[in-house]
Amino acid sequence: MDFNVKIVKSDSEKELVLNIRKDVFIRGLNIPEHLEIDETENTATYVLAYTKNKPVGTARWRKTKKGIKLERFAVLDKYRSNGIGSKMTKFILNNLKETQPIYLYAQVSAIKFYKRLGFKSIGNIFEQVGIKHQKMIYDLDGKKANVFPS
Ligand SMILES: CC(C)(COP(=O)(O)OP(=O)(O)OC[C@H]1O[C@@H](n2cnc3c(N)ncnc32)[C@H](O)[C@@H]1OP(=O)(O)O)[C@@H](O)C(=O)NCCC(=O)NCCS
Repeated sequence: MDFNVKIVKSDSEKELVLNIRKDVFIRGLNIPEHLEIDETENTATYVLAYTKNKPVGTARWRKTKKGIKLERFAVLDKYRSNGIGSKMTKFILNNLKETQPIYLYAQVSAIKFYKRLGFKSIGNIFEQVGIKHQKMIYDLDGKKANVFPS
């Protein structure tokens, strides 16, 4: 399956991001809308993955006090396991020139997915929005430019 990833620039693309998140997180995982779409909404940079001009995946990153946090990874159900999530992650890592720690809170079901991409688990599992999560940090020793060819 051919797909490409780009950074969201316009309000209309941001609408496409929200549509995917509503489908995956609010309808798919029963996360309440006010928790999914919160006050950090406008502080993040978003990506969209397209296949044949159809938006099928999204993710974002934002600066926090602890570093750069990757979050809201979502691929429409019927497009999963085609490498779209991995491609979005590599795209984001390649776009981050920062030397700050890069981290995320993985849903426990997605730990394997992030581990394959160079993240390692830190600390204990905790609950957020009723779902078990694991903090994971990107292993900078992996020299991202080589590990993640685009
Ligand atoms: C996690 C997610 C973004 C991965 O996207 P993807 O395009 O399927 O990812 P890839 O094709 O690159 O990698 C596939 C791997 O993702 C993981 N995966 C697949 N479906 C998954 C699901 N429903 N939930 C969590 N992880 C899943 C598996 O490890 C899978 O590996 P496998 O195909 O060997 O079993 C996607 O499954 C998703 O949107 N899940 C629901 C929302 C979610 O859990 N987001 C992450 C929050 S931390």
